[in-house]
Amino acid sequence: MIGVFDSGFGGLTVLDSLVEALPQYDYLFLADSARAPYGARSLDVIYEFTLESVEWLFNEGCPLVILACNTASTRALRNIQQLHLPARRPDRRVLGVVRPSAEALAGLPPDAVPGVTPPSLATGVVAVLGTESTIASDSYALELRKLAPRLELVQQACPLWAPLVEAGELAGPGTEWFLRRSLEPVLAPRRLPQRILLGCTHYPLLLPGIRRLVPESVEILTQGEIVASRLVSWLARHPDQEARLGRGGRRRFATTDDPAWFAGRGGRLLGRPLSAERVRLRPVH
Ligand code: DGL
Repeated sequence: MIGVFDSGFGGLTVLDSLVEALPQYDYLFLADSARAPYGARSLDVIYEFTLESVEWLFNEGCPLVILACNTASTRALRNIQQLHLPARRPDRRVLGVVRPSAEALAGLPPDAVPGVTPPSLATGVVAVLGTESTIASDSYALELRKLAPRLELVQQACPLWAPLVEAGELAGPGTEWFLRRSLEPVLAPRRLPQRILLGCTHYPLLLPGIRRLVPESVEILTQGEIVASRLVSWLARHPDQEARLGRGGRRRFATTDDPAWFAGRGGRLLGRPLSAERVRLRPVH
């Protein structure tokens, strides 16, 4: 199975695009709903929680895990890739959402190859919206500096957006107030971005409200399709990894909290019923 991890059910927006682009594979989605949101947690805690989730997915039979969560990708991916995998799981792979999303912000094509495709010469302003932790990590700025050194990046933390989504508050005057509050600093007329990336898997659920507040000339990027198109290209470049993936078209959903709650929220998001199981994660020593 391809393991797909998010702190909450927002990562289903990424899973949905993966399944659409690559329907032949088996998928196991894990949401750490009991401990979501991760966005305001410390680096050490996000690493610990993410590692427990990744290890659970490995133990269930996933050779490849996608961290669909930006917060986990910015805070835990590098240590997992550089320290944990070589020492404990040399045969497994973990990929994140930041690099592919930064490539899209830079205007690079989906088949861009890290270290081979030359940097983009694009100029102007782009923006990324994310959780406090994602923005504090500066990961998007670091990636963009390599991928498109002439692009100016505006970064904006939207601390309450993911909790609003988890609470099912997708519209209404209260939600609009919080959308406005985080969008206003990004939409200064003299530095209006050409593109805004929704750098949190929960934010696409707020898209109708965001779209109403953002001028039409500004492109809004969501991560599902970006991550899916780049995974297609990654699998083509890594046939040894691709060969390890099951092709039964199976989908399995797991959560660390109430499976009925997850199935209700997740089913509404995907527009079809789903059933989920509750799992317990173990500390990784
Ligand atoms: N889904 C997570 C992300 O993409 C954020 C939600 C959270 O704060 O846990 O960053």
